[in-house]
Amino acid sequence: MGKYVPYAISAIIVGILSWYYFIFRGFAVSIGFINSVVAFSTIFIIGMSFILGPLARFIHFFRVWLAYRKDFGLIGFAFAALHIALVVPMLLLEATREFDFGDVASLAVAALAFMIFTLMALTSTAKWVEKLGYDNWKNLQRLGYIAIVLVLFHVVLLEKGVFLTRIIGQIAVAFVLIILLLRGIAQVLGMPPHEEIKV
Ligand code: HEM
Repeated sequence: MGKYVPYAISAIIVGILSWYYFIFRGFAVSIGFINSVVAFSTIFIIGMSFILGPLARFIHFFRVWLAYRKDFGLIGFAFAALHIALVVPMLLLEATREFDFGDVASLAVAALAFMIFTLMALTSTAKWVEKLGYDNWKNLQRLGYIAIVLVLFHVVLLEKGVFLTRIIGQIAVAFVLIILLLRGIAQVLGMPPHEEIKV
C-alpha cells in the first residue's frame, strides 16, 4: 500500500476542509479560518490513528492499515501544534474577545489533551517501547482515548457550543463519538487487538 498513504489521506482531509471554508462557503483566507481548517484537520487526522485499531478488529481489510496509526498520530500532533501556534496570534489580535467559564474550561481541557498527545508523540519510538516495557507503553498510548474525549469537550464548550450548530463541528463530534463507540464495543466483546501487518 505504500508508506505515503497517511500523508496523502491527511492532505485530502486538509484539501476538503479548505475547499469547504474558502470555496464552498467563500470565507476569507484569514488567520481565523486557516485555524479552523487546521484545528478540524487535527481532529480527523488524529482520529484516523484511533479508529484504525477498533476498525481492524471488525473488518479484516483494515489490518494492513494498522501500520499507519503512528504516522497519522504524528501528523495529527503536528497539526495540533500548528493550531496552538495559530491560536496565540489570533487571540492577541482579538484583544477585546471575552472568555466565559465555558471558554476557559475548553482551553484547560485542550491544554491537557495536548500534553497527553505530546507524551504519546515523544514515546512513539521502539526505544521507548523497550524502556517502558510493551504493556506500560501500550497503556500510555491508550491515554490517547482520554485526550480525544478532552478534545470533544474542548470543541463542545467553546463559544457556548457554537460548533455544535455548524456542520463541520457536528461531523467532527460525530466522528469522535463513533471512534469511542467502536472502541467500547470491541472492548465489551473482548475482541483482541490485531498485531500490525508490515506494509
Ligand atoms: C493547548 C491546547 C489548545 C489551545 C490553547 C486551543 C485553543 C483554541 C481556541 C482559542 C479556539 C477558538 C478559535 C476561534 O475562535 O476560532 C480553538 C478552536 C478549536 N480547537 Fe483548539 N486549542 C488547543 C488544542 C486543541 C487540540 C489538541 C485540538 C484537536 C485535536 C483542538 C481543536 C480545536 C477545534 C476543532 C476548534 C474549532 C476551530 C474553529 O475555530 O473553527 N484544539 N482552540
